[in-house]
Amino acid sequence: MYDVPTTLEEYRIIYAKSIQDPEHFWAGKARELLHWYQDFQTIHTGNFSDGDNAWFLEGRLNASYNCIDRHALRDRHKIAIISEADEPGNERSITYGELLRDVSRLSYILKDMGVKKGDVVVIYLPNIPEALVAILACSRIGAVHSVVFMGFSAASLRDRILDARSKFIITTDEARRGGKTIATKVIVNEALLQCPLVSGCLVLRYTGSDVPWSPSRDLWWHEEAGKWPAYFPPESMSAEDPLFLLYTSGSTGKPKGLMHTTAGFLLGAAITTKYVFDLQESDRYFCAGDIGWITGHTYLVYGPLLLGSTTVIFEGTPSYPTFSRFWDIIDKHGITHFYAAPTALRILKRAGPSHITAPMKKLRVLGSIGEPIAPEVWKWYYETVGRGRAYIVDTYFQTETGCHVVTPLAGSIPTKPGSCTVPFLGIEPVIIDSISGAELQGSNVEGILAIKHPWPSMARTVWRDHDRYMGTYFNIYGGYYFTGDGAYRDEDGYYWIRGRVDDVVNVSGHRLSTAELEAALLENAHVAEAAVVEMNDELTGQALVAYVSLKESCTDTGIMKKTLIEQVRKSIGSFAAPKAIYFVSDLPKTRSGKIMRRVLRKILDGERESFGDTSTLLNPSIIQSIIEVVEEGA
Ligand code: PRX
Repeated sequence: MYDVPTTLEEYRIIYAKSIQDPEHFWAGKARELLHWYQDFQTIHTGNFSDGDNAWFLEGRLNASYNCIDRHALRDRHKIAIISEADEPGNERSITYGELLRDVSRLSYILKDMGVKKGDVVVIYLPNIPEALVAILACSRIGAVHSVVFMGFSAASLRDRILDARSKFIITTDEARRGGKTIATKVIVNEALLQCPLVSGCLVLRYTGSDVPWSPSRDLWWHEEAGKWPAYFPPESMSAEDPLFLLYTSGSTGKPKGLMHTTAGFLLGAAITTKYVFDLQESDRYFCAGDIGWITGHTYLVYGPLLLGSTTVIFEGTPSYPTFSRFWDIIDKHGITHFYAAPTALRILKRAGPSHITAPMKKLRVLGSIGEPIAPEVWKWYYETVGRGRAYIVDTYFQTETGCHVVTPLAGSIPTKPGSCTVPFLGIEPVIIDSISGAELQGSNVEGILAIKHPWPSMARTVWRDHDRYMGTYFNIYGGYYFTGDGAYRDEDGYYWIRGRVDDVVNVSGHRLSTAELEAALLENAHVAEAAVVEMNDELTGQALVAYVSLKESCTDTGIMKKTLIEQVRKSIGSFAAPKAIYFVSDLPKTRSGKIMRRVLRKILDGERESFGDTSTLLNPSIIQSIIEVVEEGA
C-alpha cells in the first residue's frame, strides 16, 4: 500500500494516504522494516502541546540486532563496512560476521567496566570502523551513546560528559585528519580532570604513540577484547528506551543533548534510507559526514546497516592528499551512493575539473545535506560528478527530526536545483506566518517551517531539561513543531529552505550558535562585551564575525585577536573560530540594553546609510564609528 513511489503522481497519492492515516502508515513500516522481539499494540500516544509523544509502546527490539545479527545470520561474509583511513592505501573491509564478533566483544568489555542499561557512554572517536562498533555495542547492551564530534575541544567535551553525567568514555590514543595528528587521549585527559564521575576510559590503540595513562581508570581496548567470546546476546529494549544523545547548538549558549529513542529513530533511519536513496543490499553507500553529527548517526551508521547494505566510512578530508580523494574512493570501491555537505562540494568545485578524472561509473545517487545547495553547485554535482547519470537528492532534516523530513525520492520526484522538494511520507510540514502564527495555505507562501503532527523519529526531549525542549520547539507556535528555519513553498508544493530564523548558524556544515561563541569570547578577562553575527561566505556557507569591546584599550590588536581565537579554540573547537574580529569602543544598544545585531549584520553587508528604525538606540553615533573600524579592517 505504501510502496516506494516511482513517479510524482504516485508519490502524491501515497503521500496523501500516509498523512490521512499516519499511524497506519508508520505501524505498517515499523513491522516491515524492523525486527521485533515483541509486537506493539499502541502505535502512538501523546501530542506536541504536552510534549509526551511515544511510539510503538509495548514493542521490544534491539538496535544492534536489527543492524547486524539479522544480516549476519543470512550471510556472515557480506561486507558491512569499508573504511578508508586518512592516508590513502589503508583500507579495511569488515563483514557482518566480523562486525557481530567485534560488537559482541566490546559489549562484554563495557559490561565488565560496569556499564548498565540506561548509562550514558561518551564516544570520542574519529571516523573509523571502531566508532560504529562502539555505537552498536552501546545499543546492544542497552546503554545510551553520546558521540562527541572530534573537532570539539577538551572544554566542550567536558561539558557534554558532565551534562549527561556519564561515567564512561571511549577514545583512541590519537587520530589523523588531513595529514595532521590529533592528540585525542590528551584532550580526553584534560576534559576528565573536571569529570570526577568518570570511572572508565577505554582506549583504542590506533597510531601506537605513547599516551598519558591513568591505570585506575584507563583500559586498552585490544587487551580487553582478547578476554571475551564472540557472541553477546542483545538486550531486549522497549521501543521508547533512549538510544542516544546528541548535543547540538540552539539559540542560547548551552548546547542541548537531544534524546532519541530506539524504535522511532530506527524506523526513520531505515525508511528514509530505503525510500530517499533507493538503497539496495548490493549497493555501496558512502556518507562523507562525520559520526559526531546526526548525518553520521542516521545515514552512515544506522540507515545503511539496517538495510543490510555496505557503508563506507572515511577518516580524512576532501582535500588530502589531493582534491581527488573522494572521487578516488568512489571509483575504487564501486560506490553507488555518495552523500556530502555543500561546503565540501563548494571546495571541490573550486578546485577545478582536473581533479575529477575517475570514471565513477557505478554512481546512481548523489545526496546533499546540511545547508542550502546553490543551483550552480547543484548543477556541477549533477553534470561533473554524476556525469548526468545520477539522481541528486537535496535532503532536509535536523538533529531534532532524526531523519529526512523534506526530500526528493531518488528517481521518482523531479528535482529543481536549490529546492529540497517535497515532504517525506507521513510528514506534514506547514508554513507559518511569523507574526500572526497562522498557517499559510496554498502555494507561493513564505514563512516559518513547522511540522503539524508527531512522527516516530523526532527527538523526545532535551536531556535533563524537558522544559527547554518544550520552550524551544513547541511553545513558540503552540501545537506545531518549530524547525527554526524559514522556507518558501512554490506553486508545485516544493519547499525551498531559506535558512535559520534564530541565532543558529551553519559554518562549513557545522551547527553553531552565535550565543555560544559570544560566551566563549566573554571568558577572556579583557573582553567587556561581544556580539557575534553571521555573514554569507562563498566557501563555508556562513561565517561568524565578532564585534568585541575591550575593558581597557589595547595597543596590539593583532595579539589580542590571536588570543581571542585561541580562546574560542579552547572553549569550543577550531572549527568555531570567527572569520573576523573587530574591536569597537561600544556596541549599538537599545535603551533596555539589547544589542541591535541587525545593524551589525547590515554593516557587514556593505550597508552604510539605511539601518531601519534606530530610534531606540541609546548610542546612535556608534554606528559610524563601527563602520570605520570595519572599513579599516577590510
Ligand atoms: O538550517 C537547516 C540546515 O541544517 C539545520 C540542521 O542542522 P543539524 O541539526 O546540524 O543537522 C544537519 C544535518 C541534517 C537545519 O535547521 N539544513 C539541513 N539540511 C538542509 C538544510 N538547509 C537547507 N537545505 C538542506 N537540505
